[in-house]
Amino acid sequence: MSVQATSEDAPRLIVAPDYEALSRRAARVVADTVRRRPRATISLTTGRTPLGLYRTLRHWCGEGRLDLSGVRIVSSEEYVGVGVDADDPVSLFGWLRAEVLKPCGIAEESVLRLAGDAADPAAECRRFDAAIERWGGIDLVVQSIGVNGHFGFNEPGSAPDAGSRVVVLAPSTLESNARYWPDGARLPTHGLAMGVGVTLRARHVLLLAAGKRKAEALARAVDGPIDAAVPCSLLRLAPRLTVLADVEASAALEHVDTGAALEHADTYISSQ
Ligand code: PGA
Repeated sequence: MSVQATSEDAPRLIVAPDYEALSRRAARVVADTVRRRPRATISLTTGRTPLGLYRTLRHWCGEGRLDLSGVRIVSSEEYVGVGVDADDPVSLFGWLRAEVLKPCGIAEESVLRLAGDAADPAAECRRFDAAIERWGGIDLVVQSIGVNGHFGFNEPGSAPDAGSRVVVLAPSTLESNARYWPDGARLPTHGLAMGVGVTLRARHVLLLAAGKRKAEALARAVDGPIDAAVPCSLLRLAPRLTVLADVEASAALEHVDTGAALEHADTYISSQ
């Protein structure tokens, strides 16, 4: 399915010289959001890409340069069958809690998550979407691109107006995630995903891409048609999209001078 974008929907593209610079720049986007709105609602994702961002947020919170105690957090994906107590080593929420929520002093009652072990997963997804609405929507969604162009378990074929739902994880996603699972862990095959439609209603979406593994997917997402076959391309329909990539992930993009990004520590490459 292909969707028409208007010309003003071109994303702002920022190319950082390396992963560290990308992580700091992403943290600045979060900090700017919170400075403007101390009680902002921010959706955070899991995976390797945002770890540098979370490390930076921990650092800034620890130094008193940033206060995240007033924000509300939406955790955007979980494996089906994984408990809400977050003791499960496979739990994505447990990971997010350890990486950023606890160290940054974000109270449990300020966190909305998809319970992977809900008796009725479809009802759980409806509860999640309704809670986001009650909170007044999301100010900032942080997502990262997968090798197949997915974000947050929204796999190829996800509809632009999809609500949060149970999804079958693509083989490439399972393969990509397997490196995080301890030996002997049961391997989830399904996930709960915050829907594309829910993401597109957010006031700002920040899409991260790091490393050359992501270069081809990022080029399809940014330069290709807006198409459900590449879920990250649908993010161009958001009210505001910032794509933040390191030089390696930007290698296949048109209109990007990666040499300039390498020369200047924090280069903006503006909308094409
Ligand atoms: P990564 O993967 O951040 O762990 O590289 C992102 C994704 O596949 O969604």
